[in-house]
Order: sequence, then structure tokens, then C-alpha cells
Amino acid sequence: MALPSILTERLRLPIVASPLFIVSHPALTLAQCKAGVVGSFPALNARPESQLDEWLGMITEDLAAYDAANPDRPAAPFAVNQIVHTSNKRLEHDLMLCVKYKVPIVISSLGAVPEVNAAVHSYGGIVLHDIINNRHANSAIRKGADGLIAVAAGAGGHAGRLSPFALVQEIREWFDGPLLLAGAIATGGAVLAAQAAGADLAYIGSPFIATEEARAIDGYKQAIVEGSAADIVYSNYFTGVHGNYLKSSILAAGLDPDNLPEADPSKMDFEAATTGVKAWKDIWGSGQGIGAVKAIQPVAKLIDRLEAEYRQARARLAL
Ligand SMILES: Cc1cc2nc3c(=O)[nH]c(=O)nc-3n(C[C@H](O)[C@H](O)[C@H](O)COP(=O)(O)O)c2cc1C
Repeated sequence: MALPSILTERLRLPIVASPLFIVSHPALTLAQCKAGVVGSFPALNARPESQLDEWLGMITEDLAAYDAANPDRPAAPFAVNQIVHTSNKRLEHDLMLCVKYKVPIVISSLGAVPEVNAAVHSYGGIVLHDIINNRHANSAIRKGADGLIAVAAGAGGHAGRLSPFALVQEIREWFDGPLLLAGAIATGGAVLAAQAAGADLAYIGSPFIATEEARAIDGYKQAIVEGSAADIVYSNYFTGVHGNYLKSSILAAGLDPDNLPEADPSKMDFEAATTGVKAWKDIWGSGQGIGAVKAIQPVAKLIDRLEAEYRQARARLAL
């Protein structure tokens, strides 16, 4: 199946910058879009909820002005992430604003429900749903999502356990629609590898934490620059769902990263941990790919690096 033009036409590289709780805000999203990759943010990052109207108005206007000034190189489209879970009391409000502003791409996480897809389809938008296994992938498409984000082992934040090769191969046996792959993708070569494995685009999060535009404190950005795969801990203790976090932030919270208790998944709450430390704010999410991040840079420089590496990888393989 041909990819929808929204995922190809204005993209300099086959990359969607993933939504990052707390970290993504309009300055980061706009920098991502202007650098030529799909930019995104979680709706929940706009607080209070009325701020989402302001953010969407500002992003829409800013991108229109940018496109008018750069007709030969318009910005890539943007995406808004909706957490589809009972703990998200804002879903209906936030979704209505996506309809109002005709947000081109909606990324749904944690739950797949037909109503979200129908609302986004009503104005011609597309929904990409993130999943960590083939069963959830199947259910998301049956409920009307347009595309899938396969979140494989090593991804930052809530992450799966499956090898990207296994996950993509199983999904591609029955699904020929838009497929994105996530999990420790942090080089242009890895973007090409995702495509070689069968994905259409790479979905990249953690490297954007160490950008100048990211809304993260310096210590967090620096930990991404200094960290590598060995510094990442996989645990469900903080939110009830398994995810990858920086070991140094767990230690700083006075916890033993090698002996974290198991959480009760029925108490899952995306934002508020029941553990005394705040997931995302105190316990820093990160994927395993951060060894490739060597400096805090503007988004544009990060995308320049990814593009150069992507071209080199293609040349190396004589594509
Ligand atoms: C700090 C952090 C916050 C995240 N917040 C969200 C979120 O709010 N919504 C969501 O769907 N995914 C969230 N994720 C997951 C990412 O969207 C994406 O799946 C992941 O970053 C991809 O793996 P990578 O970080 O190794 O590139 C978060 C990830 C990190 C590292």
C-alpha cells in the first residue's frame, strides 16, 4: 500500500519525532517540523488544558507563515499524541481541539478506540497507534487506526520487550499500511535499517531530549549525552507499565535500580506514580540508543547528522 502523502511529501528524512511527556512543547515541535521531520507533542503537556488551544493556534500559524516564506522547502507536518486511558480525563476535550485545528496526524497510545479514529478521520487526519506486540497491532487496525508504531525493545519511556526484527516481520505478514518502528533508533544508519527491516519510517524520541529546544533540565540533557545502553533500566515500578529509564535518576531518587519492586499493573497511571517519586519529572525516561548522542545541539544540527549518516549508510550499501 502506498504511504499517505502526509508521511512522505514534506519530509526530508523518513522520521517522526516522537512525543515526549514534559519534554516536548511547541518550540521543540516547530524546530522538528522546520528541520524536515514530523514534529510532535503529547496533548497532556499543555497545562492547564486550555493551553492546548493556544499551542495549536500558535503552531498552526507559525507553520503557515514558515511555509509561505519557504515555498520550496515547506515544514513537515506535526502530530499530537493522545493518551487513550481511563486515567486521562482530558481526552474528549483534547480530541475536540485536534478536530478544531485539523491536526494532520494523531498518535494514540495505550488504548485503541474507534471514536478517536472517527474524530480524526472526520476532517481528513490520520491516526498512528503505538503498540508493543502483534496482537495489539491487529486490534488497533481492526478498530480503525491508519498506521502502526511498533515500539520494540530498548525504546525510551513505555517500551516493549520484542526485537524490532521479530515485531516488524510479524506485523508485515498481514499489514501493508504505514508502519513506523521505534526503539533506540539514534543514527541515520538505524533509520535505514528500520526501512530495510520493513518499516516505512523511524520513530525517534530520546535523542531529542538532548536538544537545545527540549523542555528538559540541563542535568537530564547531560545524562543523555553521557549515557549509553548500560545506563538504562527497564522497570514497571514507576507507572505500572514497563518502561526504560536512566539509572542515574533512579539512584538520585534514593532507589536501588537493580532491586526495584514490581508494580501492580491494575494501578497503572500514566502520569502519577504511586511510589513517592514522580515518573518523568524525577525519574528520567530514556531509550538505549543514547550512546550516539555526543552533545546538546539544536534540533537542526541533530537532523543534519541523521541525514548525513542516512546518506552514508545508503552509499555503503550501494543503494
Ligand atoms: C522522556 C520520555 C517521555 C515519553 N513520553 C511519551 C508520551 O507522553 N506519549 C507517548 O506516546 N510516548 C511517550 N514516550 C515514548 C516515545 O514516544 C517513543 O516511543 C520512544 O521515545 C522511542 O524510543 P527512543 O526514545 O529509544 O527513540 C516517551 C519517551 C521518553 C523517553
